Amino acid sequence: MSSFKNLRIVDNFYQTSLYFPMPTVVISTLCEDGTTSCGPYSLIQPYYVAGKDYYAMLLNCRNSSNTAQNLLRTGKCALNFVNDKPKTFHEIVKLSWPGDTPAEKMPKFNMSLETSLIEEETGEKRPMVLTDAIEVIECTWMRELDGADKDVPGQLNGYEPPYHDFNGITSKFGAHFILRIDRILMKEKYANAIVNGVKAGDFPSLPVDYGYRDSKNFWFHRKSRMRTELLPIRAASLESVRYAADRADDTVKFSDDALMTILNVPRVFLPLVLKGCVDWAKENNCTLITEKEMKIINDKRSKEKAKK
Ligand SMILES: Cc1cc2nc3c(=O)[nH]c(=O)nc-3n(C[C@H](O)[C@H](O)[C@H](O)COP(=O)(O)O)c2cc1C
Repeated sequence: MSSFKNLRIVDNFYQTSLYFPMPTVVISTLCEDGTTSCGPYSLIQPYYVAGKDYYAMLLNCRNSSNTAQNLLRTGKCALNFVNDKPKTFHEIVKLSWPGDTPAEKMPKFNMSLETSLIEEETGEKRPMVLTDAIEVIECTWMRELDGADKDVPGQLNGYEPPYHDFNGITSKFGAHFILRIDRILMKEKYANAIVNGVKAGDFPSLPVDYGYRDSKNFWFHRKSRMRTELLPIRAASLESVRYAADRADDTVKFSDDALMTILNVPRVFLPLVLKGCVDWAKENNCTLITEKEMKIINDKRSKEKAKK
């Protein structure tokens, strides 16, 4: 017999039928008059994380919201990650009443905004960012995906079909936005921790949000102590890596000391890593890869990553 109960799956199941931990961001967008409007959002997550020409986030929102309408018009937004202080949460919940116009709510919003770094550097008009945000992702909506470039703002009482599957107007009252990441901004203290390696005390205090429940409250909790869990690294034997390396190419070979440097590479990634090494060797007229060449290949890879 199952140890679980079977719950009904209803609209907004993530907050009506589940306990689903979510981030809390304030999304800033540009209004028609050039001012910045802000709205709180939680259904936002990484979407393209690797293997594409760019990185992207995915936002799921009501298509009549100021945020959606501004995105349809200008394509620009900033995702501001706020701290977990109850005062901050109180402030941002004030921005969530559906139908409030930016002119109505923004004058009562007590958090300061500053010019975006992109705007400062390039002069391109961008939404302002929250000065007290811990980190900000500046984004551009990829309207060319899923044919969404024909979606226009202006229909506040629901859009008629046809609908897109995953980008732009996706239902009568819903929209999804695939947001290309243009810039990640972070307060210096947290940025330094990322560059130098984080310790438990370095993590910022971000809230965990469980959504709107009982037709009354937004539920969230504050950050608690960070813990770590060590990944048990499974090192392959030299013989098993040698087996794969000897079959990677007819002409390019690997010395034992070269293979020793990749014993920790999970088996599924090994062909890709070996192929990268072989490609480098062919470009550089090298037929034997030793530990020295592996170091050069690794340095090159790190530099390419840093450039991105
Ligand atoms: C913490 C929090 C998270 C929210 N997350 C979402 C969300 O992910 N998607 C959505 O459509 N509405 C969400 N809402 C409701 C919107 O904030 C609400 O529709 C608001 O009117 C949007 O503001 P805007 O019209 O200025 O964009 C959330 C509200 C709060 C307080």
